[in-house]
Amino acid sequence: MSDKLVAFFSASGVTKALSERLAGLIEADLFEIVPEQIYTKSDLNWINPRSRSSVEMKDTSCRPAISSKIENIDNYKYIFVGFPVWWYREPSIIDTFLESYNFEGKVIIPFCTSGSSKIGKSADNMRALAPKATVLEGLRFAKKVPDEELKSWAEDKMKEA
Ligand SMILES: Cc1cc2nc3c(=O)[nH]c(=O)nc-3n(C[C@H](O)[C@H](O)[C@H](O)COP(=O)(O)O)c2cc1C
Repeated sequence: MSDKLVAFFSASGVTKALSERLAGLIEADLFEIVPEQIYTKSDLNWINPRSRSSVEMKDTSCRPAISSKIENIDNYKYIFVGFPVWWYREPSIIDTFLESYNFEGKVIIPFCTSGSSKIGKSADNMRALAPKATVLEGLRFAKKVPDEELKSWAEDKMKEA
């Protein structure tokens, strides 16, 4: 049994592929944050100010519901949290995730994919939502990041904690 978990949200598969790779490299368990209401293509249209994602991301108190649940959170010490950057930060459903568990004594390590933006203030936002956790600074990865680079980043982060 691993004390490491890679928990991720992915709307179009990029973060999912990276998360699966990361979990394999560090022998972590994998958990998908599944929205109760799956995001359709039109929900994801950032050009449309009235699309679901645009409306949700303008409202920092928005908490989209999650249908999946981690049953054995107590087993984990290190929780990598992966997401696509939406409007320069973590998607609102990540905020829901952080408010859904007691992360006391755990180390949260954010990581993300994006078109080009960096991870921004995501870690600060996440710290405010999970104040009992140690939330480390995260990193944005290109989808083709080599395995060795991904693995050594993750191992260094766990040592930093
Ligand atoms: C609603 C929405 C907002 C986005 N905002 C940004 C952004 O601010 N900066 C950026 O570089 N990419 C942005 N993207 C692109 C995604 O971060 C990128 O395509 C990501 O790798 C998708 O990951 P996924 O396939 O796991 O969902 C946005 C995508 C969507 C759907």
